[in-house]
Amino acid sequence: MIVSASMSYTITSYTGQIGDKLRVVDQRDIQARGGKCVKYPISCLVYDMLLKTLHNPEHMIVLDVTYGQGRFYGAWRPKLLLASDVKIHQWVVEPDWFTKSPSWSVYKKVEKLGVVPDVVVVDPPWTQYIHRRRQQFNTVYGSPDTILEGGIRTAYRLKARYLLIHYKKVEPEDWILVDAVEFHPVSRYINNVENQKSYFILLEHRTSLR
Ligand SMILES: C[S@@+](CC[C@H](N)C(=O)[O-])C[C@H]1O[C@@H](n2cnc3c(N)ncnc32)[C@H](O)[C@@H]1O
Repeated sequence: MIVSASMSYTITSYTGQIGDKLRVVDQRDIQARGGKCVKYPISCLVYDMLLKTLHNPEHMIVLDVTYGQGRFYGAWRPKLLLASDVKIHQWVVEPDWFTKSPSWSVYKKVEKLGVVPDVVVVDPPWTQYIHRRRQQFNTVYGSPDTILEGGIRTAYRLKARYLLIHYKKVEPEDWILVDAVEFHPVSRYINNVENQKSYFILLEHRTSLR
């Protein structure tokens, strides 16, 4: 899939970086740590992954372009939390700044803030799921792939060093793999044909590497 002719990279080109580097993480192992990881296991997973950048996640500026309820930040908080979504959901964590925008155009508003995010987070809806408890996650404006592309483009335009994707196993060109997780959640979904697995992929843009 071509993200944009002008940027000439693809998100499904399989650059072969993930391969053996994929770590399997079970939700229950994270919850066994106790504390906020019980209620927000994915937040703890996101924190662990960002530690692999060798930066303190709590000192980072994060732009989350599919903010939802903000569950990725239930157990920790970045220095500055910028958020966007096409819908305002019931937040579990209030971001420092929020704008109602699709993933592909939010960069224009962030540019005006004069802030460069360290990491852009994109977690597109999975339309094949019927989510029993969180109906809002079925909100889709554009296809999941379009939303993903928009997040990648936003990270590129804003010159964010890192990109964190929660989706399938995707390997966008021009991004170097930092960490990859196959996440096994405790059963919560119905009609999940993919056997409940999802993937967290943390990447660093190649221009930021010396
Ligand atoms: C899987 S949920 C994200 C959950 C979020 N990570 C959390 O922790 O609560 C996907 C989100 O994408 C949003 N969404 C749908 N279409 C969008 C678009 N075109 N641009 C940005 N966000 C979109 C939905 O409103 C929903 O909140």
